[in-house]
Amino acid sequence: MKTFPNVFEPALSDIIQQPFPLKSQWNSAYFGNTHPITLELGCGRGEYTTGLAIRNPDRNYIGVDIKGARIWQGARYALDNQLSNVAFIRTRIEFITSFFGPAEVDEIWLTFPDPQEKKRRAKKRLTGSRFLNAYRTFVKPGGSIHLKTDHPGLYDYTLKLLAYNNQQPEVCTTDLYASSLAETVGAIQTYYEQMFLREGKKVLYLRFALKTDHEYAEIPETE
Ligand SMILES: C[S@@+](CC[C@H](N)C(=O)[O-])C[C@H]1O[C@@H](n2cnc3c(N)ncnc32)[C@H](O)[C@@H]1O
Repeated sequence: MKTFPNVFEPALSDIIQQPFPLKSQWNSAYFGNTHPITLELGCGRGEYTTGLAIRNPDRNYIGVDIKGARIWQGARYALDNQLSNVAFIRTRIEFITSFFGPAEVDEIWLTFPDPQEKKRRAKKRLTGSRFLNAYRTFVKPGGSIHLKTDHPGLYDYTLKLLAYNNQQPEVCTTDLYASSLAETVGAIQTYYEQMFLREGKKVLYLRFALKTDHEYAEIPETE
C-alpha cells in the first residue's frame, strides 16, 4: 500500500510536530479541482467512500481508518476503477485536525462507528462533543454530519447530545429501510451494514448541520 498514490499514512511523529502537508491544500495539490470534499471517518473497506465517489464524480471523497488491511481494499478498488476523486488516510481519527484546514470539508459520514457503549468511553464516540468540536475546526459552517448505525444507544446518545446543545437533527429515522431515505442513504451498504442486516438488525440514520460557531458541550454524566 506504500506505493498507492491514493493512500496517505504519515507517521504519528510527523503529524504531531507539524500539520500534514496537504492540510488546506487537498483540492489544489491533490484532487486538482475545487469540488466539495466529503470525509468518511472509520471507513473500513471504504465501500461508502468509493460508492459515493462513483455516483458523484463532481465531489471528492476521503476515507479515514486506522486499519491498513481494510483501507487497502477500498484504495485498490479506487485505483482499479480509476476513481480520481478518492483518497484514503490511514490514521487515528483523534488526529484528524492535523489533516484539514478551516472550512476545507463539506460534510462527514460516520458509517457504523464503534458505539463505545460504556459511559467512560463516551469521549471516544465519534458523535461526542470532543469530536464535534474537532470537526468544527475544518467543516464548513452548517456542513452535514451523517450517522448511520445499527446501535440504538449511539443514536439516542447523539440525539440527546444535540438536544443538550439546543439542536435538532435535520433528518432522523430508527428504521432507514422502512423510510423514504432507503433509496438514497440505503443505496450503498458497507461491509458492517450488510452483516448487521443479515443479523436482522435495523439501520438507524440521522443527519444534522454542524454549528461551527457553537462549542458543543458534553451531556453531564448524571443525565
Ligand atoms: C465497525 S467498523 C465500521 C467500518 C465501516 N464503516 C463499515 O461500515 O463497514 C469501525 C471502523 O472504525 C475504525 N476505527 C475505530 N476507531 C478508530 C479511530 N480512533 N481512528 C481510526 N479508525 C478507527 C475501525 O478500524 C473500523 O474499521
